[in-house]
Amino acid sequence: MDGNSIVGFYILLSIALYVQGAKKNVLFLVADDFRPNIGVYQGLNLGPNHTPNLDTLASQSMVMKQAYVQYAVCGPSRSSFLTGRRPDTTHVYDLETYFRNVGGNFTTIPQYFKNHGYTSVGIGKIFHPGLSSNYDDPISWSKNYHVSQAHHYGHSRHSHSWRAVPDIERQQFPLVDEMISTQAKKSLNELATAGQPFFLAVGFHKPHLPFLFPQKFLSDIPVSMVDLPTNAYAPVDMPDKAWNNYAELRVFNDIAVFNATGNPNTTLPDNVVKDLRRAYFSAVSYMDSLVGEVLSELKNLNLMNDTIISFVGDHGYSLGEHGLWTKHTTFEDAVHAPMMLRVPGLTDHGVVTNQLVEFVDLFPTLVDAARLPKLKICPEESTHVSVCTEGKSMLPLMTSPNGPWKMAAFSQNKRGKGIMGYTVRTDQYRYTEWTRFNGAPVFKPNYSRSLVGVELYDHVKDPQENVNLAHHHDKTDAVASLKKILHSGWRSKDTNPGIIG
Ligand SMILES: *[C@@H]1O[C@H](CO)[C@@H](O)[C@H](O)[C@H]1NC(C)=O
Ligand SMILES: *[C@@H]1O[C@H](CO)[C@@H](O)[C@H](O)[C@H]1NC(C)=O
Ligand SMILES: *[C@@H]1O[C@H](CO)[C@@H](O)[C@H](O)[C@H]1NC(C)=O
Ligand SMILES: *[C@@H]1O[C@H](CO)[C@@H](O)[C@H](O)[C@H]1NC(C)=O
Ligand SMILES: *[C@@H]1O[C@H](CO)[C@@H](O)[C@H](O)[C@H]1NC(C)=O
Repeated sequence: MDGNSIVGFYILLSIALYVQGAKKNVLFLVADDFRPNIGVYQGLNLGPNHTPNLDTLASQSMVMKQAYVQYAVCGPSRSSFLTGRRPDTTHVYDLETYFRNVGGNFTTIPQYFKNHGYTSVGIGKIFHPGLSSNYDDPISWSKNYHVSQAHHYGHSRHSHSWRAVPDIERQQFPLVDEMISTQAKKSLNELATAGQPFFLAVGFHKPHLPFLFPQKFLSDIPVSMVDLPTNAYAPVDMPDKAWNNYAELRVFNDIAVFNATGNPNTTLPDNVVKDLRRAYFSAVSYMDSLVGEVLSELKNLNLMNDTIISFVGDHGYSLGEHGLWTKHTTFEDAVHAPMMLRVPGLTDHGVVTNQLVEFVDLFPTLVDAARLPKLKICPEESTHVSVCTEGKSMLPLMTSPNGPWKMAAFSQNKRGKGIMGYTVRTDQYRYTEWTRFNGAPVFKPNYSRSLVGVELYDHVKDPQENVNLAHHHDKTDAVASLKKILHSGWRSKDTNPGIIG
């Protein structure tokens, strides 16, 4: 056999061995507001790397280095990836709306596993909590959902944007994510002996604001390791609508004292920027340590070879880049998020892909990895179709990470009632149109009306998105072709070859 056929033989062999095995469990891990601050993503200068547990997981997983959420806000993003449908199908653009009330009675990832003989158990933050998910979407789970209540560590919810919590205080009031990992370990022990495959979803609240973490994590990241962003200004020629005034951070008492307006090209004092970045990185290390605890319990129970592990952050995050904080934008920092998938027998030695994947791809991939009946692509109008997807299985990328794949990743973000930013990422560019949007019952952009703003960033020359080139005369052709991609959307066979309609 020549080199290629040997490789081909081993690929077939590994698929054959893999298909033979028994039903695999799924451990579904989600972190909140977590940009790809993991060792394997370094080179993107996201900050100091202190994630030993996620690094280990990454070395046994397929890491999607260019994964994009469909909407950089928790509720809309989670509604989208948990149903495998895009925001204009779920009709969720905010933190108040429940997809079953406005989009359709869609089958979610945990619900699909439950319907196929799995015990599905949820802990912590998986759906956006409260009314917006009818309290964690009870229909998705086989057992009562485990909600852990956070203690506020202050006189009110908004006293501190960050805090290193001393051990003595933690002993009295455990941090919420510690309660979640403790429950996760307990559930794993129960599920391990229950004799049914399980789908266990564990959602951590960190590194979301307020950045609260056990004291020791702060000393692991000395101030000297923390840089100021090199681009603390709004992109040149940025349209107004692209901005978000990060009220979510300014509302904290320790930030409000600086009277920041949140307007473009205003900023917080340098020492505050550094402190916030340091606190975020500390909260990341803390969350990483809890992921480690859950994974070592899985190992102790001897379930590593029988369990598919998925890890995602629900969207990206700005930490002072462009002078911006938090999310609610269509910038790369907000829509680029970590995603990795460990499938025993397929990703044991680690696979990295730079293909443009979308969070809607997670549902069909997990279904394929677990060898459940494949999901069909949703028809244009899928309100009454309970099981289908608007994503694509990434399983083929595990054996061929550079194989044929989509050429674009789509995201969006709403501004007020009638304006939506639609953005597309290709290999080279991010292109965004701020356009009139027809809400209920249409849920579509009206591209025949004049645009409110246009952005074009060249990621080869300007990975930080500092200069909007949309109106540059030598970019006319690029804009025209990107406009076509954006308007024809994810269903187009030009950008999504091999899509089966
Ligand atoms: C939603 O679908 C589930 C089955 O998947 C069904 O049990 C439930 O009654 C439906 N809810 C509504 C409001 O139709
Ligand atoms: C912000 O600052 C940049 C860099 O100095 C400048 O090019 C841009 O026009 C400014 N934007 C606004 C909205 O003031
Ligand atoms: C913020 O505004 C308050 C009330 O106007 C003022 O007393 C305070 O000095 C201001 N703080 C800063 C840092 O400018
Ligand atoms: C898990 O699978 C790998 C590769 O298939 C094998 O080498 C290893 O011995 C297995 N571990 C256990 C604990 O069964
Ligand atoms: C889109 O905008 C155009 C121009 O304002 C208008 O004539 C048309 O009715 C709009 N289409 C929809 C579906 O709202």
